[in-house]
Amino acid sequence: MSSIVGKFRSAHGAAAVSPPTAVRSLPEKRLPLVTPAVFTPSPSALDARLSSLELRAVDFACLVPLFRCNQRCRYCHLWEHGFTYDERIEVPTHHWLALLDDLAALARGPVNLTFAGGEPLLRPDMPEMIGHASRLGMAPNISTNGSLIDAAMADRLIAAGLKMVSLSLDAAEPGLHDRIRRWPGAWEAAMRAVALLVERDPSFFVTFLCVISGENLRGLPALIDFVDRDERVAHVNFQCIADPFAREPGPTVWREMRRYDGLWPRPDEAVEALDAIIARRRAGSKVHNDPAQLRAYQRYFRAPDNFRRQARCGVGDHAAHVDPYGDVYLCLDRPPVGNIVKSRFADLWYEGAEVRARRHEMNHCTTPCHLTLNCLFEE
Ligand SMILES: C[S@@+](CC[C@H](N)C(=O)[O-])C[C@H]1O[C@@H](n2cnc3c(N)ncnc32)[C@H](O)[C@@H]1O
Ligand code: SF4
Ligand code: SF4
Repeated sequence: MSSIVGKFRSAHGAAAVSPPTAVRSLPEKRLPLVTPAVFTPSPSALDARLSSLELRAVDFACLVPLFRCNQRCRYCHLWEHGFTYDERIEVPTHHWLALLDDLAALARGPVNLTFAGGEPLLRPDMPEMIGHASRLGMAPNISTNGSLIDAAMADRLIAAGLKMVSLSLDAAEPGLHDRIRRWPGAWEAAMRAVALLVERDPSFFVTFLCVISGENLRGLPALIDFVDRDERVAHVNFQCIADPFAREPGPTVWREMRRYDGLWPRPDEAVEALDAIIARRRAGSKVHNDPAQLRAYQRYFRAPDNFRRQARCGVGDHAAHVDPYGDVYLCLDRPPVGNIVKSRFADLWYEGAEVRARRHEMNHCTTPCHLTLNCLFEE
């Protein structure tokens, strides 16, 4: 089985019924990178086993139960999946609930648990999943564009126990955010979500997730000012523009493709903008990223194919991604290590021969990948 990149077509090739055109035309899928901000302790009795396997407990889980989306961002193709539910792609609710049971049982301390997508709130069972994770003692996060959070949805999410979101916001200027998202009203909708959630729960934790690109570089100081002024917002978390998710593969480097014109910043301007962000953080602005990560971003913008310092990748030792098919990944550039429909996550995490082999390979990987830059930063 191949990695998540390029897997999409073969999965559909095997399907009895032709998938919708929009889906069939997507040749590749790449899981989104999100930066969760959630932590939940959950004691269990597996310590001896963990240490005998020299394995860290899972403390990071990014669950992507759908690729569908309602916005059309310039740097992402996931929206090309359309809005229509397809049972051949999206694993039903009970498998996700069982996965949450396993994550809670395996946790030895704080867990970053994030639901992402696509737009996760397009799945009608999202409040049910949030409720299940909350009852298990976890503090789930949703990575969302916020557009589907109206009053009724805010009520349901808060009632389910949601206490935080990572809300995408690429600019303080509404027009710029809307242009990047190619969705008029995206900025207003995101702000409405903040108001509705914080109104219902004054301690609700809102993080803005901003993708640094050539389009918004000059607006970053204004975005930091905006966050500093708004006491409802905990902080802004910056990520670097990466290879657009679910992009059609081809010989051309994405940064040189005309359709992405303007997204890749001039390296000197990006480095300067990041110097300013580092200074703002040091001066007490609500910037979440550690300066070490911001300096890694500078290396990335200077040398996008050769920015990594560390040779060893520890991601597979403690982090898992699960895609809408239920496939479990330790590394998004390598084949899945199992599937939550065919096995319990708890068994995969400890026992799978493939898991062990994959961890070993990963420990020796030197690829300058975006996962270890943006989402699971490793120096
Ligand atoms: C894939 S989205 C899923 C959640 C939701 N649809 C949203 O946009 O907030 C997760 C995060 O990845 C970011 N993102 C999308 N494409 C990206 C890219 N090519 N490089 C870096 N970040 C990207 C989005 O802006 C968003 O903050
Ligand atoms: S970044 Fe999020 S909102 Fe934008 S197209 Fe991708 S999944 Fe949809
Ligand atoms: S550094 Fe290598 S092994 Fe680790 S997540 Fe990135 S591509 Fe995968």
